[in-house]
Amino acid sequence: MKNILVIGGAGFIGSHTCLALLEKDYKVFVFDSFVNSSSNSLKRVLEISELKNKKTEPFLKIYRGDLLNKKQLENTFKDIYENYEFLDGVIHFGGLKSVAESIYSPIEYWKTNVLGTINLLETMSKYESKHLVFSSSATIYGSSKNSFLKEDSELNPINPYGNTKLTVEKFLGDIFKSARKEWHLASLRYFNPIGAHYSGLIGECPIGKPNNIFPLITNTALGLQKELKVFGNDWPTKDGTPIRDYIHVMDLANIHIRVLEHLISNKPNYLKLNVGTGKGTSVLELIKIFERVNKVRVPYVYAKRRPGDKCSIVADNSLLISKLKISPKSSIEDMCRDGWKWKNLNPNGY
Ligand code: WQD
Repeated sequence: MKNILVIGGAGFIGSHTCLALLEKDYKVFVFDSFVNSSSNSLKRVLEISELKNKKTEPFLKIYRGDLLNKKQLENTFKDIYENYEFLDGVIHFGGLKSVAESIYSPIEYWKTNVLGTINLLETMSKYESKHLVFSSSATIYGSSKNSFLKEDSELNPINPYGNTKLTVEKFLGDIFKSARKEWHLASLRYFNPIGAHYSGLIGECPIGKPNNIFPLITNTALGLQKELKVFGNDWPTKDGTPIRDYIHVMDLANIHIRVLEHLISNKPNYLKLNVGTGKGTSVLELIKIFERVNKVRVPYVYAKRRPGDKCSIVADNSLLISKLKISPKSSIEDMCRDGWKWKNLNPNGY
């Protein structure tokens, strides 16, 4: 049984990845500060995996800690290495992730996302743990003329959140170059993860008012807010609303495991991969599909463009498919159906 440490494992993508790991019989260790997440997500993860994993006891051990507290990090690694042998890999979701919030709290974002990651890599190095999958973001790309973003497209983040993600990617590059024979690294550039596990027991549970479109759509559909503001209908797209590459959170979770297994079974390398579906969906299309699939109404009004928004952000995911022989399977309809089931079963989150 391989041992995997998941930093930020109680969060939206982290909890879905922990579930996927347990279902593949990994031993899962979670390090989370619970600043941006609820420990109930992990209780639900165990509930689902116990139901599914009749044959084995799912193994999940939780360490409450903050990446900025090196002692807590050190104690976690020490406990794992003294009681459970070594770590086969680390998946790092631990960071702040709101573009809007990063604009008015850059210091928090640089400290947590960059200094936190430096602390993590320092501790990993001390314990000879050299396999890492890092949660990066499509927000590191500049405004691209062509609609599909490739890994070698121009990198030019326009907000503090994107700046911290690009900085960490460069930091990992320096680490890889400094000891080329040792580190197995991957930076996964997420596009727009949405939806929920099909059980509806785990899902996206933003703390406070959500910024992302999908939780706002489900809040509106449930009547928790009067209407959805669509930020601009004057974009150069077929219906005037911006286009994004939405990917099912379970597809994203499974891709993390596939990438980690690739790192473990191959020689040292540093992979940077787009993780999207390669299909663009406009805001208006997303609303209409959500209404059709779930037989609900999502009242909306057009508002002015949101600062920092781009017209179209869609992944060229050919490198992921060719190198890892894996591609996202779920449709927008699946994402809408699964995300709505989660919301209906958990109107106020965990
Ligand atoms: C999507 C579209 C908005 C809210 C996010 C995260 C970023 C990154 C990628 C991980 C845009 C429109 C939104 C609303 C709207 N995640 N919208 N009304 O901006 O692509 O970036 O995902 O790395 O951290 O911020 O996603 O969901 O905020 O917006 O019209 O009330 O929905 O204009 O076109 P975005 P989003």
